[in-house]
Amino acid sequence: MPLQLVLAKRPTGNIIPGETFNLVNIPTPSVKDIPDRHVLVEALYFSVDPAMRGWLDDRRSYIPPVKIGEVMRSLTVSRVLAVASGVTKFQPGDIVTCMLGIQEVGILPESQVDKAFPIAPGSGLKLSDLLGVLGITGLTAYFGMEKIGKVKPGDTVVVSAAAGATGSVAAQLAKLAGAKRVIGIAGGKEKCRLLKEELGLDEALDYKANDFRQKFKEATPDYVDVFFDNVGGEILDLMLSRANAFARFVICGGISQYNNSTHQGPGKYFFNVITQRVRMEGFIVMDYMKEWPEATAKLAKWVSEGKLKRKETLVKGGIKAAEGALQLLFEGKNVGKVVVEVKGPEDPVAKL
Ligand SMILES: NC(=O)c1ccc[n+]([C@@H]2O[C@H](COP(=O)([O-])OP(=O)(O)OC[C@H]3O[C@@H](n4cnc5c(N)ncnc54)[C@H](OP(=O)(O)O)[C@@H]3O)[C@@H](O)[C@H]2O)c1
Repeated sequence: MPLQLVLAKRPTGNIIPGETFNLVNIPTPSVKDIPDRHVLVEALYFSVDPAMRGWLDDRRSYIPPVKIGEVMRSLTVSRVLAVASGVTKFQPGDIVTCMLGIQEVGILPESQVDKAFPIAPGSGLKLSDLLGVLGITGLTAYFGMEKIGKVKPGDTVVVSAAAGATGSVAAQLAKLAGAKRVIGIAGGKEKCRLLKEELGLDEALDYKANDFRQKFKEATPDYVDVFFDNVGGEILDLMLSRANAFARFVICGGISQYNNSTHQGPGKYFFNVITQRVRMEGFIVMDYMKEWPEATAKLAKWVSEGKLKRKETLVKGGIKAAEGALQLLFEGKNVGKVVVEVKGPEDPVAKL
């Protein structure tokens, strides 16, 4: 019987294994269960995102919280198993992307399912990239830099959580846009090595090191023109201390605060927003949905041409591994995009 990961109890801090979610079996759906204009799909890959933690809090946001008893929300790469009458866009076997949630199989309206961006053989791309560099995190990096960061040649650009899915792409896009100096901030020596040696950043700083503040000051002699923030809290405040006049602060995320009941905002250096005329702007990648196809094609081209490198932490073990995969993000144990593999496209199709 197929499995679902269901929200059992809202966490107040970190997700508690075995308490926050329940794994439940559901009856195997059959073709006759599919309403008109709906499709039955099976999950191949689940996207694992820091935003999932926010979706568990019962507060006003850009999207309603997941309800107690509901399947945990997640974007997936899925395969169509069966279609009902009235479905025009899909047929069994099609690879699609959809908000299936963390469940092995499910039924969705055709209108909530998208044909997957075609992964051309020999392009160097793979299906799980549809959730990373070609999916939400790659698009977030792209639109954050393009619409808010507006990197100009000569700029000094800083990216926090730079070894993560969004940050690693954002930092490389800043280089492609002609930034003079791109500095990544990440936890630990190995991530900093990767940023410089593999992704070609000019500087990488370990925010966990004792001399981080001093090193950061030394690394920004011309101050900071663009800050792409994934972390918030103390790091955001520190960046304000080095903001250049007319700097753009791309407020993408604040993972350092997601498990806290009260959120720390800019403090000591907040008035630099005024004195340096800093523009701080938050955004949600969905704001630019109409432009996704064009941006996805550009990102795919850059990866295929070797101009953009992507990193991935692929978690095997299917739905049972999903809860642990989410924790990796908050422990900094991932590099690049965290994806849970349920099954590869070559694996047998689920029996109905
Ligand atoms: N606005 C949007 O539309 C949008 C869309 C997608 C994602 N986001 C946001 O973008 C950010 C990155 O998401 P992602 O999916 O790409 O995740 P990610 O960067 O791949 O993973 C999260 C990383 O955050 C770092 N981190 C965790 N706790 C931290 C802390 N207390 N202080 C500093 N760093 C910490 C860890 O790296 P270290 O080892 O370096 O600590 C970890 O690897 C998140 O804030 C997310 O909410 C926003």
